[in-house]
Amino acid sequence: MSDLAGKQDIQAFWGALYDSLYDGTTDVSKEQLLESIDAMEDMFRLRGHMAVADMSLMDISGLRVLEIGPGAGGHSAMFARHGAIVTAIDITQARAEATAAKFALLGDDARGCRAMQGDAENLPFADGVFDIVYSNGVLHHTTSTEKAMDQVYRVLKPGGRAVIMLYCKSSWHYWINMWLCVGILMGRAFGGANWLGRATEWGGKDEQTMENPITRCYSGGGVRRLFHRFRDVRMRKAEFYFYLIPKLGRIYRRFQIKRYGVHPGGILVYGEPWPKQSPLEFWLGRFIGWSWFITAEKPEN
Ligand SMILES: C[S@@+](CC[C@H](N)C(=O)[O-])C[C@H]1O[C@@H](n2cnc3c(N)ncnc32)[C@H](O)[C@@H]1O
Repeated sequence: MSDLAGKQDIQAFWGALYDSLYDGTTDVSKEQLLESIDAMEDMFRLRGHMAVADMSLMDISGLRVLEIGPGAGGHSAMFARHGAIVTAIDITQARAEATAAKFALLGDDARGCRAMQGDAENLPFADGVFDIVYSNGVLHHTTSTEKAMDQVYRVLKPGGRAVIMLYCKSSWHYWINMWLCVGILMGRAFGGANWLGRATEWGGKDEQTMENPITRCYSGGGVRRLFHRFRDVRMRKAEFYFYLIPKLGRIYRRFQIKRYGVHPGGILVYGEPWPKQSPLEFWLGRFIGWSWFITAEKPEN
């Protein structure tokens, strides 16, 4: 597959997925958006998400932050709300527009912020211009994660930090849910390359309408190789959910919602409330979670 065809597939997939999550309603007031951002931040604190746990939102005012792949634009809007000068770039035009619309609604609270369409593997920025490059769940879905990481390194200022989430291979979700249940028992691993893409992400909210063209996941060694030019590389696992277990997970999810409830913070970024994790899931995430939360510094020289 050529790089261009690959990128078109990526745009088509994410375009379709987000279209199925949001009904297109843009009739939201600034106050409502601020409430949604606060709710999302609260949800991230509950989950120990890297956006609040591995970077200090209190210290980002005035910093130049690049978000790659903002999706719904919630994370970028949160950084803007904390005073960062945010640039957001997404390969899917509609996602860049959704993020730009949030900046526009925030008005003076997002002064200097901008969102644009573009590719992580070919960032249209000069060398060494950002204090932080942030990307949550994006770079494992692009044609060449290595190329994208070279770009992250290039556009960071010396001493700047990368804050990046990548899927984790040494996790329950990869080995039990995906490899064993979906790959082997349901036979998807035998359908050629990218079986993980087909298995891990739906092209629609409730049913598979389109195949995810690319998904990769990384062992600890794989992450270290990707970040070999950085210093002070810190990585931790997080995010374990019983409801992701194929078939049985659906039953658990009903129990989970009854027992622990849902958090409204999910609406801004996932289009629906987030089912709260049990303390056991939160704890298990540290050992067998599906996310690597990674921070790393570009050396001063
Ligand atoms: C799983 S979503 C993550 C959205 C958001 N970061 C979040 O955590 O909610 C992946 C996003 O990355 C974007 N994306 C995928 N490949 C990209 C690339 N090569 N360059 C820029 N954005 C890309 C998609 O369009 C989509 O919006």
